[in-house]
Amino acid sequence: MDTKYLHIKEKSERLTREEEAMLRQAGEIIRSGGLVAFPTETVYGLGGDALNPGSSRKIYAAKGRPSDNPLIIHICRLEDIYRIVSRLPEAAVKIADAFWPGPLTMILPKAEIVPRETTGGLDTVAVRFPSHPAAQKLIAYSGGYIAAPSANLSGRPSPTLAKYVKEDMDGRIDMIIDGGDVGIGLESTIIDMTSDMPRILRPGYITREMLGKVLGKVDIDVTIIDPDSRLVPKAPGMKYRHYAPKGQLAIVEGSPEQVIAYINAHTDADRQAGEKTGVIATAEVLEQYHADVVKCIGSREDEEGIARNLFSILREFDDEKVTSIYSESFPIHGLGQAIMNRLLKAAGHRIVRLF
Ligand code: TXA
Ligand code: MG
Repeated sequence: MDTKYLHIKEKSERLTREEEAMLRQAGEIIRSGGLVAFPTETVYGLGGDALNPGSSRKIYAAKGRPSDNPLIIHICRLEDIYRIVSRLPEAAVKIADAFWPGPLTMILPKAEIVPRETTGGLDTVAVRFPSHPAAQKLIAYSGGYIAAPSANLSGRPSPTLAKYVKEDMDGRIDMIIDGGDVGIGLESTIIDMTSDMPRILRPGYITREMLGKVLGKVDIDVTIIDPDSRLVPKAPGMKYRHYAPKGQLAIVEGSPEQVIAYINAHTDADRQAGEKTGVIATAEVLEQYHADVVKCIGSREDEEGIARNLFSILREFDDEKVTSIYSESFPIHGLGQAIMNRLLKAAGHRIVRLF
């Protein structure tokens, strides 16, 4: 398949007439059963018509994704949610008011019209109303309901730039819309609104603290906080190894001095053994590492920067053929919870505790 490319200005509120026309064309592709990758405020998505079972099947095939792993339906107006859910609890309306459009996905009971191909066979549906202006336009031109997982091959880090979408999806989908850098860099927070107590299934930019302010108490899926848990996560996608770089990645936790000493000792030894070594380091201590490739993930003071850089750094290690990687660890409150959740998955839960 010959993949078409479209460029639009980064996070532009106002699109030119030409860009509008291009998005209309992209919408036509989705309406007629094709697939289009597009920017959102979190990561790039791989979009198809959510109400067309054939489109969902194509999405699974293009990603190489197991078909029991459900897709998120993206909408561009709050009122459109009523067609795809069978019930909208009051608490869901509250958080929609507070956080939509934005990086929050709600799990709700599905309406008949939503095909089981889209929900991975479940009776529930994931719904998100993104804030990215071009994403909203595309959803509108596509008929209002786009099913979109992250636009990576299954198991790879979610794409934060169109060049990474191209790496994974060129020749596999109809079109890629390049809208530059995404803002957040980690996928949306997922909250399950089908149980009595709302429960976070995937941590993200909208934190437990933020949700708690609106809802009172909010649970969190234990498999997110307890990395050693053998329990099966409730979001099917969270059970798969994810975001994994091709090299071996380990996270090292301890005081800054301990972490630096440990990583240097191990990268020295690994290099002796013929490995190409890498470190994911914070700006404050960057200069102190010996590894072949030392990547700066940002300042410890700037968690948003760390979130934005994580996935592209994991892909850069692959490009540079690094085989042995160590990462500093991050505190797990606020946005740090989402950062550590993705990092732990990337490391296959390999963590060294030096305390
Ligand atoms: O930020 C995002 O959410 C991005 C952008 C493109 O919007 N999308 C995204 O989709 O991350 P995906 O498919 O990569 O991740 C969706 C996650 C998976 O872990 C899936 O198992 C879970 O949502 N999920 C979807 N529907 C569900 C449902 N009905 N019940 C529980 N989990 C569900
Ligand atoms: Mg994904």
